[in-house]
Amino acid sequence: MNVTIRGRVRHHRTVTFDGARNAVQLIEQRLLPHEFRIVATRDFRETAAAIHDMIVRGAPAIAATAAYGLAQGARAFRERGLRAFTRHLESVYETLQAVRPTAIDPVNAMDQVRARMQAGETVAERQALALAAAEDFAQRSVEECRRIGKHSARLIRDGARVLTHCNAGWLACVDIGTATAPMYQAQAQGRRFHVFCDETRPRCQGASLTAWELAQQGISHEVIADNAAGHLMQRGEIDLVIVGADRVLGRTGEVANKIGTYTKAVLAHRHGIPFFVAVPLSTLDWRLKSGVDIPIEERDQREVLGAWGLAQTPSSGIRTPKGAERVYVRVANPGSGARNPAFDVTPGELVRGIITPRGILDPAELWPRRREMVPRV
Ligand code: MRU
Repeated sequence: MNVTIRGRVRHHRTVTFDGARNAVQLIEQRLLPHEFRIVATRDFRETAAAIHDMIVRGAPAIAATAAYGLAQGARAFRERGLRAFTRHLESVYETLQAVRPTAIDPVNAMDQVRARMQAGETVAERQALALAAAEDFAQRSVEECRRIGKHSARLIRDGARVLTHCNAGWLACVDIGTATAPMYQAQAQGRRFHVFCDETRPRCQGASLTAWELAQQGISHEVIADNAAGHLMQRGEIDLVIVGADRVLGRTGEVANKIGTYTKAVLAHRHGIPFFVAVPLSTLDWRLKSGVDIPIEERDQREVLGAWGLAQTPSSGIRTPKGAERVYVRVANPGSGARNPAFDVTPGELVRGIITPRGILDPAELWPRRREMVPRV
């Protein structure tokens, strides 16, 4: 999407690849909304660390990063022999896959890259195919988000008040976003609406990233505390909820997404407010039979016990050009511990529709229509 910094407008993707330097280029999302910086990872281990540390986050974005990371690892192989190459590739794959286990997108993306590489007969051919496949995945992901927007823009009527959770915008994808795709499309069609961004503790992706994105695109919005949604729903101030997902089970329609999504779905159901989940095809999991089998990432308890923000006074942290620093502030009682599950699972019966690039489906329709739901590679 377009980013305006100091009056200059430029189009950016969240993830790109620099072939000459064999580097993955990422927007450093931990610095947003205070600073816009692009960083490069020089090898697949750095790429895995960038996913783990959430320089890049959001299921489709970490999928493209993992696909590029796999190509990066493949291209860095300097030894001889297909067998050694295959072993090396396996360890790259495992490293990239293990860092954030809830999202299925990185697995689907890397599987597509690996499948394409099979056509190569030599190491050099497979290395070239790996990068081509990663580029194709990223491009397809953008096109799928565009189609999500086309199918679902009609859900946002003039004057609508939409709630979204976490960040399922372009920063969470390669471009455009999933939950934001209908918003951008409705805006392009001339409709006016208002978006409530759940703050999304503990990492505050709603307050920092979604609010920044919407501000960049000139969409009316306000940040709300995570606990405010029920009150606004009760007072008739929310018409529609649209969120993204890290994994949607094709067999059951269950949706894994950022912690707090389930709570919002229950509230929406209680108040008769339609609750939609927007996903590219890479988010669909056709294997797991039940939501209880979805691995739920547990993150560092420091995320719950404190918060990051900008401090104007000097202390240790990441410096912004304006001299302020990104610092961690302890909020909780010293000595208290925390539990930090990063995702939860929403049952399909609470979901009005899954917005896919192939149209809007009832969660129960996914499995019968599974043959249409695979990417045309
Ligand atoms: O922990 P994060 O920031 O990676 O969590 C992101 C989300 O939960 C998004 O809603 C999800 O990945 C969908 S992004 C289109």
